[in-house]
Amino acid sequence: MCGIVGYVGRQKASTILIEGLKRLEYRGYDSAGLAVLQGDGIELAKKTGRVGNLVKEAKKHRFTGTTGISHTRWATHGGVTDANAHPHVSSDGRIALVHNGVIENYLSIKKFLIGKGYTFSSETDTEVLCNLIAYHFAKATKTGDESHFLGSVRKALRHAEGTYGIAVICTEAPGELVAARKGSPLILGVGDNEFIVASDVAALISHTQNVVYLKDGEVVHITPKEFSITTLDEEDVEAVVDRVTWDIEAAELNGHAHFMEKEIFEQPAALENSMRGRFSEDGSTAKFGGLNLGPVEFRQIDRFVFLGCGTAWHACLVAEHLIERFARVPVEADYASEFRYRNGPLSGNPLFFVMSQSGETIDTLGALREAKRKGYKVLAINNTVGSTIARETDGGIYQHVGPEIGVASTKAFTSQLLIGAMLALHVARMRDMSFADGVEYVNALKGVPDLVRRVLEQAPHIKAIAQRYAHHTDFLFLGRLSLFPIALEGALKLKEISYIHAEGYPAAEMKHGPIALISEKCPSVFLVPKSEIFNKLLSSIQEVKARRGPTIVIATEGCEFPPGLADELITIPDCHEAVLPIVATIPVQLLSYYIACARGCDVDKPRNLAKSVTVE
Ligand code: G6P
Repeated sequence: MCGIVGYVGRQKASTILIEGLKRLEYRGYDSAGLAVLQGDGIELAKKTGRVGNLVKEAKKHRFTGTTGISHTRWATHGGVTDANAHPHVSSDGRIALVHNGVIENYLSIKKFLIGKGYTFSSETDTEVLCNLIAYHFAKATKTGDESHFLGSVRKALRHAEGTYGIAVICTEAPGELVAARKGSPLILGVGDNEFIVASDVAALISHTQNVVYLKDGEVVHITPKEFSITTLDEEDVEAVVDRVTWDIEAAELNGHAHFMEKEIFEQPAALENSMRGRFSEDGSTAKFGGLNLGPVEFRQIDRFVFLGCGTAWHACLVAEHLIERFARVPVEADYASEFRYRNGPLSGNPLFFVMSQSGETIDTLGALREAKRKGYKVLAINNTVGSTIARETDGGIYQHVGPEIGVASTKAFTSQLLIGAMLALHVARMRDMSFADGVEYVNALKGVPDLVRRVLEQAPHIKAIAQRYAHHTDFLFLGRLSLFPIALEGALKLKEISYIHAEGYPAAEMKHGPIALISEKCPSVFLVPKSEIFNKLLSSIQEVKARRGPTIVIATEGCEFPPGLADELITIPDCHEAVLPIVATIPVQLLSYYIACARGCDVDKPRNLAKSVTVE
């Protein structure tokens, strides 16, 4: 949600800033802009729409400077207009700023600044912060304060309530850049005589793999030769330089039409990576290095609480099912945003897990902080090393699936399902699951990449189905037990990327309402595993067919259907219950992907969405 990039070095800043924006575009694509220090002033270009529009706009300018900032926007305060696009420049022309986050008290600051003669050309909270820095800078200039650029940013931030990741440049501090964060991610890339700050590693990885993950409340001051980090209270912070383990290849399309397609097809390898080194030597259970929790503590847990948003919440629901089914421990899965304000009663010794691909979702972060405030231990299942959630939890499990760039989550989701299944095994083996059952379970997990490969081979068949159904405007996705969350996920994917109205429902609940929607115009996608409720699912399909509803059935190989019941059939391999949700996810991902392609939608950048939602 909004992406920022800042550059200080010897190269032409504009090239690096635009290249960085292209890699961050998944974070927002309402408008884009860049500002570069040049001569005595700031060269500025900004434009509504995609980074592509900015590239055209930038051609009208002559960018030569080596210090600059850039931004891709997901609108919060103020509509999608050129004026509201970042960077914002202070009314005295000295300061330019890009911002990811929300300054909540911007109205009162704005009033104060208007009183001091500052003028505003946008409706944004960001322009207010920019002018506040300019105000402190002007004051410091008068008093002759030497480090006044850095100091004025710090002073302004002390008054700012809300969240921010910012990068700031100043006409009177050539070659300098100040960046800071509170509640929005910010990473410093440390290159060879060059520095890049960005909201995400993807924007800087082609220049350096050495990074500093900045923490909330930290301010970094960069010059062409060095950087230093301090707090808002001017205390020095020792920088820890980490090495990113993936390279630029992982953030490239590599011949795929979209990142979503690439990430769907990467799933066998991604699942291998999520499992690697995480089984016991005797092959009967899963082990995790980062839980920071011994077996005795684990035994005492009387309830698990899983929290997440969007797709991650669906993974929480599957974890709930599997842990209750195999470990017989009560589990609650809740939307992080609801949990945070619901203030429901909790049991004596619950263990919290937050699930988040990005590790930056503000609702999930808020829920994590609320649980911690109440004194509970919170662990994370997270894909982004160094993310805020990873840092604030008491431990956790990294997903290790590499960067996920498509806005609609795919490989991160199946990896969360896998880790949920491994956790269920871990807990079950500490309780009543036998060694033999544990070995069978582990073998099933190890076999999942191959099962996923087999489903992926059906892509052409699923594509053909998608093309036949792409004109419909309503879909139902129906499943039961552990596949009910997959029905939710299928419906969410279709909504997100093809703008088709879709609902996920427990199949048996269909007759209590959604059945009213059934007609030849509303296809139903059924998830039908071989199980003891196969016949019940068959009855639900019959009810749809009786009302002339088209049916797309995703079923276990070998399941027999009476003639005419499944208009379309997609098969999945017979598999262990623990991996069934993963295997059943692949067809719904492919179906929604190919439907969106058939409708000509911009799959990787669906309208109104952002990959990482850092506002409430
Ligand atoms: C946004 C994305 C969803 C994602 C959700 C949670 O809404 O559009 O695809 O599932 O955030 O993201 P997280 O990074 O916390 O898993």
